[in-house]
Amino acid sequence: MKKKVLVTEPIPQKVIDYLESEVELERWDKSEKMPRELLLQKIPSFHGLITSKDKIDQEFLQTAKNIEGVSNISVGYDNLDIEALKASKVIATHTPYVLDETVADLIFGLILATARRIPELQQYVREGNWNRSVDQSLFGYNVHHKKLGIIGMGRIGEKVARRAKLGFEMEVSYYNRSRKEDVEKELDVKYEEMNSLLQTSDFILLMTPLTKQTHHMINAEAFKMMKPTCFFINAARGAVVDEEAMINALENKEILGAGLDVFEQEPVAKDNPLLEMDNVVTLPHVGSATAETREEMKLFAAKNMLQLLKGEKPDALIKELQ
Ligand code: 8YV
Repeated sequence: MKKKVLVTEPIPQKVIDYLESEVELERWDKSEKMPRELLLQKIPSFHGLITSKDKIDQEFLQTAKNIEGVSNISVGYDNLDIEALKASKVIATHTPYVLDETVADLIFGLILATARRIPELQQYVREGNWNRSVDQSLFGYNVHHKKLGIIGMGRIGEKVARRAKLGFEMEVSYYNRSRKEDVEKELDVKYEEMNSLLQTSDFILLMTPLTKQTHHMINAEAFKMMKPTCFFINAARGAVVDEEAMINALENKEILGAGLDVFEQEPVAKDNPLLEMDNVVTLPHVGSATAETREEMKLFAAKNMLQLLKGEKPDALIKELQ
């Protein structure tokens, strides 16, 4: 009897065929999120769930009587309650590596768009305001040869550091729970304590996963330490930042601008003040959103699922369950 797998977001035919060769598949292929009640209603008869946003908590695990594993189509897994998974011996996987370069590209796009005011200037041209050479009031700020401070030097942080050093001749420092001596040597990046990094960087990039410990890690105090000429970039998770404190810091000109791919509430509320600020670039959580990379992520998630259903050690078990 084939095991049953539920997928709660659209997947390409290639991945459908790959999964259906081994399991009985049911798919929610709408872009809007599958309603929680419907998920809980269906999940008792399934052995596996492939998802990226569904909250996998005690309620879900108590309902999912036959579940053997959850495969996240994302590198981040703050949607998973690790303790509840451990207690119920349910396996969980994610999709690292395949998106690292794609997210690093988007981050540099955010850094350039924020510092060189690209969305604003495009608006200026589209509104027919370009009647003569632009004056000082529309000038941006250099990125090359400036100092980039990376908070959270994981695989993606390293790819950004490489682009910054080799592509933009930037000075790069990082703060991380553990030292990355290999990266320091190879790329000539410096380890720096958090406060000093916050006080001296021209660009601060947040690349820390969201956990109980990192929730609101970047708060009002942190923003007060930043330079008034600093640009803050977040492509990790919205809730690692106290968003209200960030809005205040921007309104009080404690920092010069921000480039954001993630928000505390996603999709972001239409009346969020960040959407009104010219010096804030806002993107809809598209770090990994290229056709190539999202297909690779979905194939990787499918592979993890088939491995765990066969009782094999999946390629990307989340580290807390290793
Ligand atoms: C996902 C991401 O697409 O991988 C991650 O952690 O944030 C993105 O690549 C997103 O999580 C989908 O919800």
